[in-house]
Amino acid sequence: MHVQEAEQRVGCLSSERVREAQEQLLVWFGNHAADLPWRHNPSPYDVLVSEFMLQQTQRDRVAPRFIEFVRQFPTPEALAKASTAAVIRAWSGLGYNGRAVRLQLVARSLVAGGHTLCSDLTVLRSLPGVGAYTAGAVACFGFGVQTPFVDTNIRRVLRRVFLGDPHPEAIKMLDERLAERLLPDCKAVEWNSALMDLGATICRSKAPRCPVCPLAGPCLAKPLYYPTDAGSVSAVAEARTQYMPVRPRTATKLKSGSSYAGSTRQLRGRIVEALRSLVDGEWLHLADLVLRASGMGLPGDSDRVEELAERMAREGIVAAHDGEGGERLYALPE
Ligand code: ADE
Repeated sequence: MHVQEAEQRVGCLSSERVREAQEQLLVWFGNHAADLPWRHNPSPYDVLVSEFMLQQTQRDRVAPRFIEFVRQFPTPEALAKASTAAVIRAWSGLGYNGRAVRLQLVARSLVAGGHTLCSDLTVLRSLPGVGAYTAGAVACFGFGVQTPFVDTNIRRVLRRVFLGDPHPEAIKMLDERLAERLLPDCKAVEWNSALMDLGATICRSKAPRCPVCPLAGPCLAKPLYYPTDAGSVSAVAEARTQYMPVRPRTATKLKSGSSYAGSTRQLRGRIVEALRSLVDGEWLHLADLVLRASGMGLPGDSDRVEELAERMAREGIVAAHDGEGGERLYALPE
């Protein structure tokens, strides 16, 4: 799809079509809203924590960790004064530990400046590691600000339903306009949550479940996925039991773990895992870190673990120093 065509589609969206989509999605959300712990009367800080966790981890995995994390660090002050090691330990199971370090950085920068989280998008965006999306989510879910924002799920839903083409990369800048145009009056919390839920459960990236989608009627992408579904009862019934799209977006990588096994991400996780098991004040020699993190002791592991551990030290995820005999020692940062 060309940008001009996409722009035209956004510009030409009729109020009636917008209102219809709003109503359908909000009714669906009323019946299907996911019960997520960060939706239970969250403080702005709760929202911030949940959004950092949700950046790269599925909601089911995040839910129990979120509850435990905010129990352990209930306020920005508590998070700011904890050791980074404790924060990384509490992040266990979520992966991408750099997020834990950056989240603590936000808390420390708030506390150091004598600030609290506020509803101003520009101020929120000035916090370290907080982009447009997280700022929007904190303002909306934490303060009730009537603002649109787009994450991957919201972007996908809006593009499919209103632009038709599931991946027109050239039109990224239109997503915000689309989100703005569709935001219903005074319903930003419900609307943004509904788009997220729809993207996570029905308008999924690889296997959209169009037959049970509340926006299937107005959706311009549905014919791409279900070209033969003429809306008959039997077609819908069949599709309900078999949610495979007719035209998957791309040949997708199997989640066999093959891309994860041996990856840098896996090794980074194992380095943190090895250091998590240390007691306070204990440091691990590079050679022991290599053994614990790489497991098999393959040639080249030592260099790889050292290189990664040093990189993670520069990122603040790992603490490193030279021991008295010149050996390199590692721990989680205090
Ligand atoms: N994914 C990212 N943010 C989310 C939220 N606040 N609720 C549910 N899923 C999400």
